[in-house]
Amino acid sequence: MKTSSWPRLLLPLTLTLAGCAWDRRTSTLVPRSDLARSILEVYGIVTVAAAVIAAVVFGLLAIILVRFRGRPGAPLPSQVHGHRGLEITWTIIPALILLVIAIPTIRIIFRTQAAPAAGDLAVTVVAHQWWWEFRYPSLQVVTANELHLPVDRTVLLRLESADVIHSFWIPELGGKRDVIPGHHNEIVLTPNTPGEYWGQCAEFCGTSHANMRMKAFVETPEAFERWVAAQRSAAATPTGAAGEGKNIYTQSACMACHTIQGVSVGIVGPDLTHVGSRTTIAAGMLDNTAENVAAWIKDAPALKPGSKMPNLGVTDAQARALTAYLESLK
Ligand code: CUA
Repeated sequence: MKTSSWPRLLLPLTLTLAGCAWDRRTSTLVPRSDLARSILEVYGIVTVAAAVIAAVVFGLLAIILVRFRGRPGAPLPSQVHGHRGLEITWTIIPALILLVIAIPTIRIIFRTQAAPAAGDLAVTVVAHQWWWEFRYPSLQVVTANELHLPVDRTVLLRLESADVIHSFWIPELGGKRDVIPGHHNEIVLTPNTPGEYWGQCAEFCGTSHANMRMKAFVETPEAFERWVAAQRSAAATPTGAAGEGKNIYTQSACMACHTIQGVSVGIVGPDLTHVGSRTTIAAGMLDNTAENVAAWIKDAPALKPGSKMPNLGVTDAQARALTAYLESLK
C-alpha cells in the first residue's frame, strides 16, 4: 500500500472506532429518559461550540500559513515582544466560551439532581462482583440483572455496592454514576419510551468488569403491573425432571448462596425465585437457554472469568435436572 492512501483510510477508520451507528446497543445519542435528554442537550451545545471554534482556528491558521509563509529572499518580519490587545483578546474569548458552556451545564446539573417526590418508584440497585441486584422495597420484589420500569413514571434509583466501586450506566436512560461501598448515590429519572435498553458497569471492578451487564425493560404500566404480580407470586412447584432438579438443589451448595422463595435463603448470588422469566443469565452475558444454563451450572468460571460461583463438579445429568428446575421458575 502506498503511503499516500493512508489519509483516505483515516475517516472510515475513525468512524468505525467511534461506533458511528447511533442506535446501537448502548448509545447516548438516542435518549429515552428526561435525564438522558438533558445530558445530550449539554453534549450538543459543547459539540457545536467545539466545531465552531475548530472551524475558526483552523481557518485562521490556513490563511496565516498561506499569507505569511516564508519566501526566498524575503526580509525578516519585524520582531515584536508582547501585544496587549492580543493578550486581552485571547484571555477574554476562552472565558466567554467557558461561560457559554458553563451556564447550561450547571443548570442541567441542578435539574438532574432533583429531590425525589413521594410518588416516585424507588429501586435499590446493589452492585456485586459481577452482577446487579434490583430491589423494589415498596413492591416486595427482588430480581437480578434485568430492571423493569414503568414508562412515564419517575424512578429513584438508590445505588449501593456490596463490595468494590462500580458504576451504573444505561446509556439510553442516562447516567453514569458511581456505586460506592458505604456511600449512597442516587439517580432520579423518568423513562419516556417503552423498550429494552442495555447497560454496562462503567468502572473497572475486577476480572469480569466487562461482563457486568444489565438490561432495562421500560414497559407500559399494565405490563409492569403484570410483571410485578408474577414476581410476587410464589416460586413454581416443579414436577418431573424439574422436581428432581429441586431435590438436587436443596441437597447441594446452591442453597448457601441463592434465594428461592420458600426453598432457600442466600444473599451471595442472585435471587432465583423467578430466574426462568429472565431473558439472560450471568449478568447479561448469555441468553437464558437450557444449554447456556446447564453450561453455567457445570462450570461458571469457564464462561465468566472470576465468577464467584465455583465449579461444583455436578454431573451432566445433575446439570440437566437443575436446569429443568431453574427454567421452570418463571
Ligand atoms: Cu462493576 Cu465494573
